[in-house]
Amino acid sequence: MEIQLWREILNPYELAVKEIMTKFNHLIKEHRDRGLYSPIEQVEGRVKTISSILEKCQKKKIAMEDIEEKIYDLAGVRIICQFVEDIDRVVELIRNRKDMEIRQERDYIRQMKSSGYRSYHMIIYYTVDTLDGPKKLQVEIQIRTMAMNFWATVEHSLQYKYKRNIPDHIKERLLNAADAIIVLDNEMSSVRSEIMDAQISFQIQANIVADILNNIQNLYKVANKREILKIQDEFYRVYAMNDIDQLERFDKQLDMIAEGYRAQTLAMDMED
Ligand code: GTP
Ligand code: MG
Repeated sequence: MEIQLWREILNPYELAVKEIMTKFNHLIKEHRDRGLYSPIEQVEGRVKTISSILEKCQKKKIAMEDIEEKIYDLAGVRIICQFVEDIDRVVELIRNRKDMEIRQERDYIRQMKSSGYRSYHMIIYYTVDTLDGPKKLQVEIQIRTMAMNFWATVEHSLQYKYKRNIPDHIKERLLNAADAIIVLDNEMSSVRSEIMDAQISFQIQANIVADILNNIQNLYKVANKREILKIQDEFYRVYAMNDIDQLERFDKQLDMIAEGYRAQTLAMDMED
């Protein structure tokens, strides 16, 4: 097949991967902005390489004209979560989306593969708009924990190294490691709520500090220098207290001061 033709086929898949990654990354941001825990920790994505497509066609006896229908991971997006519990939440998020239609789901977490591989797989239909109009594509989404991802990455490298013929003694080691991953994920789950609490309060604090700095910056436009300096010193003092309630109180005070200036300017405007 001509190189140019490959480009034409794969271009929409590139767009799909980019769009979907942007959307999931934005979900992370939406959670953080609201001071909520994000079930998505990290998003990865790729378009299958031509050499890997050729290899798959050969292995699965797929004709060139059937590539788009039969190779459903031309576009692949991977969602990494901190905890096993997060995976179900992400699955639910995807099921509820209007822009993603589920074609197939495979739960290799409750049904581990014989290799020891674990992940939740979804094949979705996703529509991109191209020069030639809308195009509905298949996209594979893999959802897994960081620990599962570690295992899959290592195992994948070994498969590559041994050209998919991993020796038995290494296979056995990998199965042991897979068992250890299950134990690790379970252990992490048992401290999940504490880790979540810590991360959320960190995020809330970051949001309040950002709000305070924003307020101070705005006050620069209206308040006099001496007052600003006083407010700044006060901020450093409150910040050093390391107490989120104090920070919040200070933030509210600043809101009120800013509100006061707004009222003043408004009054002046009316006098004009
Ligand atoms: P391929 O495995 O891609 O040929 O397709 P399939 O029809 O067998 O689908 P399956 O759901 O088994 O695998 C889809 C994808 O999951 C693969 O392309 C890999 O990215 C991943 N995967 C499946 N099994 C394993 C495994 O044993 N080890 C690793 N590292 N990844 C796997
Ligand atoms: Mg497979």
